[in-house]
Amino acid sequence: MKGDILVHAEGPNSGQPVTVADLSDKITRAWPQGKDPKTGDMVTRNGDPTSILAIYKFPKGQMEEPTKLDATIDGEIVAYGDRCQHAGCNVEDGQNGIMNCPCHSGQYDPKRGCKVVGGPPPAPLPQLPIKLDGDKLVADGFFMTRPYGYNSDEDWETYT
Ligand code: FES
Repeated sequence: MKGDILVHAEGPNSGQPVTVADLSDKITRAWPQGKDPKTGDMVTRNGDPTSILAIYKFPKGQMEEPTKLDATIDGEIVAYGDRCQHAGCNVEDGQNGIMNCPCHSGQYDPKRGCKVVGGPPPAPLPQLPIKLDGDKLVADGFFMTRPYGYNSDEDWETYT
């Protein structure tokens, strides 16, 4: 949801906000954290596996279209949904800066909008618009294309 803080999904900082200093050209996995619309309580949105994110920080000038650069932070930090569009596995860092899906060898290019560069996935990983709040990363909207787990654009539009 727009305004959610992104928190580490794994490792020693699990549950802590993701900051710029934490990021690199290797995957950082995160969950959105924000207010429950019903109770108002702060919740980590890890109940829906579709919410898992892959965040990268690349040197300026390395990301290209079809990455939506205006939805990145300074053209350097980008977030994608991290469930493969083929059958929903978590996508990992592969070789030569390409993301690799361990299930059926799907490949995505995170510097180019996570477009598919190999294997069976039918669509790119969806990009999440993000911005900074101080040094913390915050969602600035919802996924810009349909993530895995939504059967139709209609489902997806209902959700958003
Ligand atoms: Fe990723 Fe099949 S689930 S390639």
